[in-house]
Amino acid sequence: MRQFFSSLFLFSILFAKAQSPLYIPTLLTGITFNLKVQNGSQIFFDNIPTPTYGINGPWMCPTLMVNKGDSIRLNVTNNLNVRTTIHWHGLHIAAKNDGGPHQIILPSMLWSPSFKVRNNAATYWYHPHGAGQTEQQISKGLAGLIIVKDSAEASLNLPRNYGVDDIPVIIQSKAFDALKQVAIATDMDTALFINGTLNPYLNLPAQVIRFRLLNASSLRSYNIGFSDSRVFYQLGTDGGLLDTPIARTRLIISPGERAEILVNFSGMMGQTINLENFGTELPSGIYGTKNLGMGADTIPEYKANFLNGADFKLLKLVIGAALTGAITNIPSTLIPLGSYSPSSATRQRSIVMDTIRLIAFDPPNRAEGPFGMNNRSFDIDSINEVVYLNSTEIWTLVNKTLVAHPFHIHDVQFNILNQGGNALSRSNKGWKDVVLVLPGDSVKFITRFADFADDMVPYMFHCHLLHHEDDGMMGSFKVINAAGIGIYGAAHTKFEIFPNPVNNFLTVRIENTNNDSSESNTRICILNLLGETVINQSAYQSFNIVDLSGLSKGIYLVKIASGKTSFIKKIILE
Ligand code: C2O
Ligand code: CU
Ligand code: CU
Repeated sequence: MRQFFSSLFLFSILFAKAQSPLYIPTLLTGITFNLKVQNGSQIFFDNIPTPTYGINGPWMCPTLMVNKGDSIRLNVTNNLNVRTTIHWHGLHIAAKNDGGPHQIILPSMLWSPSFKVRNNAATYWYHPHGAGQTEQQISKGLAGLIIVKDSAEASLNLPRNYGVDDIPVIIQSKAFDALKQVAIATDMDTALFINGTLNPYLNLPAQVIRFRLLNASSLRSYNIGFSDSRVFYQLGTDGGLLDTPIARTRLIISPGERAEILVNFSGMMGQTINLENFGTELPSGIYGTKNLGMGADTIPEYKANFLNGADFKLLKLVIGAALTGAITNIPSTLIPLGSYSPSSATRQRSIVMDTIRLIAFDPPNRAEGPFGMNNRSFDIDSINEVVYLNSTEIWTLVNKTLVAHPFHIHDVQFNILNQGGNALSRSNKGWKDVVLVLPGDSVKFITRFADFADDMVPYMFHCHLLHHEDDGMMGSFKVINAAGIGIYGAAHTKFEIFPNPVNNFLTVRIENTNNDSSESNTRICILNLLGETVINQSAYQSFNIVDLSGLSKGIYLVKIASGKTSFIKKIILE
């Protein structure tokens, strides 16, 4: 019976709109990229125009192709009438270039970050990251690929003719309201787009094809495969190629993740095959499966969405003649992986994903949220974690909710150490910047925070379900240069003061490692050399900023007094 219904739904999706050739985003190369973010309009349904966003066009964004080692400049002009940000997802760059919520581009303003490309060859992407506006802006069209090339990848016999045998596949499910406007904060994402094309088909030659898959959906994960369940080969993960291709018939891709796959269509001329989502086989807890949550902890609209728990076509592939010089086999080895050794880690931290209660009596809904990280909702003015430059750390992600969350961290690529013993049908090898954490699961990864430190500008970590991110399931971390930082204190309380010498703002970090309440009433005093108190403010656990801009230059003493402990440190104000 269920089979009957799902094929009925497939029928209605197929004929909702005539098939259109898959749009291949314009390819930009070189070292200077001019990106104009603009308003547009598209006709998707019933001759009704839908307002959209695009870069250098009304809808979607160009693909940027760059070489590892090149110094590039991105001139981003905001021609929208709202503020935006553009984040280079997966790239290892300084925090000020990262395009997170702190690098706002006001309407009609230009933002021109420039940086050296340090990442390995792989598929990255770019998208807005504005406070609370991420889902809306990505869904309206602002999602583009970044293809990084390097010499290791170039030495392999792989398809790399963009749009011919190397195909971008940006998967997005979107919701529309009755007026055919892109809708957000809804679970009725019933329209499927590939590269911004509804109901697409693509003509391909009968040879080995490389697909660069990106899930840029707000919430939905896909269980990717082909309609004949043929074997394909995973070539790469978020941040690089694997050591050997992994043969598989299914691959789960959650929002924010990328995967490169190779498929051999040799000898298939004249046939048609579909790239499909096998939603019936998605493990429970993952958005896109039939039911989500349990009891009162459910999402009201979820069951009404016929895509949930269904198998459906993503992209129709029509196979034609092979091209001259076609690649016809799958390489047996790729590139050595490299990885971080757990024994090099100097710090462990954990991030707990759980429901945030907005009002004390509001019952938490562990399927719908709102969710937080370590019991906090995103606050643009606070810093949640501080990491030392050049340190290797192990992070444990704990999911206490009833839905899977794809955790993403900026700045770095990581290696997954373990994934709670869950037998997900996907590789946990390779370089990653997003990892799906199943309900009740805990995932450990190891990473190293190299090259970029900034005392003021943080990076983000967050859930890449865009609706969760916009709702506050995000935190920030600073990478600071530990050279010149003092770490002082008593057995239970540690203080860090930086920078020293200081210009205007002194940061005081206080870490109380026991729960002795007598130590919670802490004050920060700045004394001049006469012993007079010139600043006296109460301190919070974790981060405190002391504004010294009203003081004249010279030597001061910082006194931190908490219950039983106090200490004094000399600082130089320059
Ligand atoms: Cu793709 Cu913080 O984002
Ligand atoms: Cu990112
Ligand atoms: Cu989430």
